[in-house]
Amino acid sequence: MSERTLVLIKPDGVRRGLIGDVIARIERKGLTIAAMELRQLDAETAKTHYAEHSERPFFGELVDFITSAPLVALVVEGPRAIEAFRGLAGLTDPVKSAPGTIRGDHALEIGENVVHGSDSPESAAREIKIFFPDRF
Ligand code: TYD
Ligand code: MG
Repeated sequence: MSERTLVLIKPDGVRRGLIGDVIARIERKGLTIAAMELRQLDAETAKTHYAEHSERPFFGELVDFITSAPLVALVVEGPRAIEAFRGLAGLTDPVKSAPGTIRGDHALEIGENVVHGSDSPESAAREIKIFFPDRF
């Protein structure tokens, strides 16, 4: 049973030259890249993507950050791909993330934690539709 998840290599990851590292980890795990695009988000798309956080105090900074420069959006596919990629990414707080995870190896700040991965099948379906409408 294959599943799809939306992965973002956020602007900090692109700026710091981590696209290759993140993709290598995805491929090494055995997951497949089903779609991939480099793009810069407008504020409306960013707010839609992060709608669940719209009332949180960090929402403004989150939208500013995610729209600040190009990111890489990927659809990643495989058995339990959602949980598998969240495992590769580590915890939201990079300091609490184990070394060996993307965030544990590469970041120190919650607000600039290199990657996004969908957190449930419902989120994945909603987020994939935002980034790759009509493709899946
Ligand atoms: P969240 O969905 O909770 O984390 P995750 O990316 O692990 O699914 O939050 C979305 C993003 O919002 C998170 O990656 C970074 C940012 N964020 C903050 O800047 N401050 C915070 O306190 C939290 C919880 C998140
Ligand atoms: Mg989340």
